[in-house]
Amino acid sequence: MKHEHTLVIVKPDGVRRGLVGAVLSRIEQKGLAIENMLMVRMDASLARRFYAEHEAKPFFPALIEFMTSGPVVALDVAGEDAIGRMRAMIGPTDPEQRLPGTIRGDYSNHVTLNVVHASATLLDSERELDLLFGADEQHQKRPLRPEEPPGGP
Ligand code: RTP
Ligand code: MG
Repeated sequence: MKHEHTLVIVKPDGVRRGLVGAVLSRIEQKGLAIENMLMVRMDASLARRFYAEHEAKPFFPALIEFMTSGPVVALDVAGEDAIGRMRAMIGPTDPEQRLPGTIRGDYSNHVTLNVVHASATLLDSERELDLLFGADEQHQKRPLRPEEPPGGP
């Protein structure tokens, strides 16, 4: 067993649907530690760099549009075998293979709007944590919900 850090994201659909608390609870109940947390609206440049491995795929434009459609919550999650355990907790990419008890299995039947991301490998986790939590990031200066008027309910 290795102590690892992994990057988890509650995607825009998860934030819109009020599932941030449910995702955080599952992580904490599993005994993994939330070591950092950030709400940010990804811009297209960040989303493209984040999902660069998919750049040539047909679903890439829809993926970037989705990931920039509203704020996300990014989490630095740490613990023993955190990378593999988080991937197991979120469930597979293919909606037909998602089992109940996984986050995607319980909350999503959609291939793209699938509530959560988790790093797939150690290399990915290092690159992704740096993209969201790296020292030169300026996320706090970006408006989270620029389309919403001030005030609200
Ligand atoms: P993630 O990177 O977000 O944790 O998801 P994943 O590993 O399970 O899936 P991946 O293959 O890396 O795909 C990244 C995200 O792209 C969207 N997607 N849409 N056929 C499609 O329309 C399609 N395939 C993938 C999903 O949002 C997926 O999580
Ligand atoms: Mg992936």
